[in-house]
Amino acid sequence: MEEKSFFIKTFGCQMNIRDSEIMAQKLGEHGYIEGLSIEDASVVILNTCSVRAKAEQKVFSLLGSLRKAKKRNPRMKICVAGCVAQQEGRNILERMPHVDLVIGTQAIYDLPFLLENMPGKTAINLSDSYEIPRYIPRLNSQEPGNAVSGNDTAVFSRFVTIMQGCNNFCTYCVVPYTRGREVSRSVFDILDEVKTLVDSGVREIVLLGQNVNSYGKSNPVTSGGLPYSFARLLHDVSAIDGLKRLRFTTSNPKDLSDELIACFATIKNLCPQFHLPVQSGSDTILKRMNRKYTIQTYLDKVDRLIAVRPEMALTTDMIIGFPGETEQDFKHTMGLLDRVRFHGSFSFKYSDRPGTMAAALDDKVDEQVKSERLQLFQKRQDEISLARNTEYIGRTLSVLLESVQPEVARGRTTTNHIVHVELKGVARPGHFIKAEIYHAGQHSLKGTQVL
Ligand code: 5AD
Ligand code: SF4
Repeated sequence: MEEKSFFIKTFGCQMNIRDSEIMAQKLGEHGYIEGLSIEDASVVILNTCSVRAKAEQKVFSLLGSLRKAKKRNPRMKICVAGCVAQQEGRNILERMPHVDLVIGTQAIYDLPFLLENMPGKTAINLSDSYEIPRYIPRLNSQEPGNAVSGNDTAVFSRFVTIMQGCNNFCTYCVVPYTRGREVSRSVFDILDEVKTLVDSGVREIVLLGQNVNSYGKSNPVTSGGLPYSFARLLHDVSAIDGLKRLRFTTSNPKDLSDELIACFATIKNLCPQFHLPVQSGSDTILKRMNRKYTIQTYLDKVDRLIAVRPEMALTTDMIIGFPGETEQDFKHTMGLLDRVRFHGSFSFKYSDRPGTMAAALDDKVDEQVKSERLQLFQKRQDEISLARNTEYIGRTLSVLLESVQPEVARGRTTTNHIVHVELKGVARPGHFIKAEIYHAGQHSLKGTQVL
């Protein structure tokens, strides 16, 4: 075992993936080396997710099994970070005394310091006047694609955090309690980070936030404190020399502005792909969820997005079996699927989260009914995804390669579809090639390289 080595296990969303990269970089700057497994590491960090009960259960069961690993290796320090850490705080130490440190979502930048100075073993304060610390990725080398913090594999698509937290308080959601109020990152820091990544060979950037459309609303993001919108940020990021593809996630439909829709007409490297979580097809349920839009306004925005970029691939999130959901409400959800024909969707059974408004509602839907509805929903979505993917057969698409084996490569289209490509010439990860699509599956496409 290395003297100072770490291993991070990440659960949950892209924000957590990015936070793990930041923790890895911070530890690297303080002399820690990344190990390949838990057994190798002197510090084990679980970066946790509490969005649904299942995700949280996984964390506690892994923590339980780490008790034995620590018995074998008493010098191992165990740290719990992320949303479960933020929400459960000291309770984790009481339930799992072998845990050495619990750090909240705003404390990740101080991880090396906290590991060495652990009074009280918790750092979980959530501040409303929090400023995202200036943070620029460490470059491992000037070779293309090596702007990697945390591991040394070449990656050509990278996440960049632009804001944290959420002010919306959808009634089912734990995020406003685990990530605090909305805080936007300085535009200068964002542009610097993107430039650094692109200069080192990164081709695609995904801007991250719980609700990117509110960027710049809750705190001034330029030194002059001038209003600065998400649409303006997209323009400025897209103009960075060498950036080929730009994406973002996630957007609340209520804040999807005309200015943002117009970006899809004017910004050439903004990819025609939009993740727009709707959560339910029923206005009654949307109201109980505190989503602040109706299905009609959602559909208007969808239609305008498609009018601006007809090749737009839309995806969504759906919660099945929210408290009070009737057969009729669920029919509306199924109807919405057929109306929009999403390219893909992430669907979940509603799960009670402690402290949320929905957890206190008393007309919960029976587990069995939730499961049946979820199955019907996912079956129909799979059919639609396959039909949507079939529309690409015969078309020639641009593919950014992620991995290349002797005769087959894997990459993504501008619409974020995975393509397995039969190669006809030399190709390397990070290259853009053209592929003619000849086969469609539910979750990926197959094509032949066009020279
Ligand atoms: N139960 C089920 N799904 C949830 N999500 C958020 N909170 C809950 C919950 N309590 C889903 C939403 C959100 C996605 C990230 O997770 O669909 O968009
Ligand atoms: Fe949760 Fe709603 Fe905020 Fe999304 S917009 S993070 S669902 S509270």
